[in-house]
Amino acid sequence: MKNVKVGILGSGDVGKSFARAFGALGHEVVIGSRSPEKLSDFVGGEGDRVTSGTFEEAARSGDLLVLATHGLATEEALTMAGKSNFDHKVVIDATNPLDQSGGMPRLVIGLTDSLGEQIQRSIPNARVVKAFNTVGNPLFFKPELPGGPPDMFIGGNDADAKKLVSQVCEAFGWGVIDLGGIEASRYLEPMCMAWVVHGVISGTWMHAFKMLHK
Ligand SMILES: NC(=O)c1ccc[n+]([C@@H]2O[C@H](COP(=O)([O-])OP(=O)(O)OC[C@H]3O[C@@H](n4cnc5c(N)ncnc54)[C@H](OP(=O)(O)O)[C@@H]3O)[C@@H](O)[C@H]2O)c1
Repeated sequence: MKNVKVGILGSGDVGKSFARAFGALGHEVVIGSRSPEKLSDFVGGEGDRVTSGTFEEAARSGDLLVLATHGLATEEALTMAGKSNFDHKVVIDATNPLDQSGGMPRLVIGLTDSLGEQIQRSIPNARVVKAFNTVGNPLFFKPELPGGPPDMFIGGNDADAKKLVSQVCEAFGWGVIDLGGIEASRYLEPMCMAWVVHGVISGTWMHAFKMLHK
């Protein structure tokens, strides 16, 4: 994968994991927040290639954008970032539509729609690819599990965008399973709950999905 400028919307563990991974691969990264100053310690430890900015600065600067915002605040973050800054760009959507106010996370969109589709409708000129939403962020980069590389399940409407995101997944150490258009988010977002529930029941959080074939 050739070098690309990456803009990340999201200052939580997910945004930081992406920033660290893209930085380690030599890409230039702007990680965005409503309060970029809170990222100064983080970017200070990541070398010259990783800087912080507002959501707008991150979205403007990147040729490849990543959505790593709280699922239910993503529309607000897109508005703050300026929707035209997403035009024609490849956007990795790692969000999940979870309400975490009551303890155990609860999916609040589904069956006939998904957050991935809502995001694609909200930024219609962007090329949104759902990816990285079905695994915990500590395993995003070089998961190195004993059973071999796990599979990242992705969906998006644009074939070239999925090609680039597949290259990202492979560079991060993942196989790729393409589930078709962005409506695959209807299946990928509930998959995150299967990952979470297994974590709760087993008390372990270093697991990932893999498709086995005969
Ligand atoms: N945790 C995981 O391992 C994991 C794995 C896969 C996918 N995901 C998904 O990835 C996303 C990020 O997860 P996370 O755990 O890193 O962090 P999070 O707490 O879900 O989200 C943090 C980000 O959301 C932004 N945000 C919160 N409220 C906002 C509002 N009202 N308006 C605008 N922005 C707002 C925050 O902005 P500020 O920077 O201004 O604080 C911050 O950048 C979520 O959708 C989650 O479901 C999580």
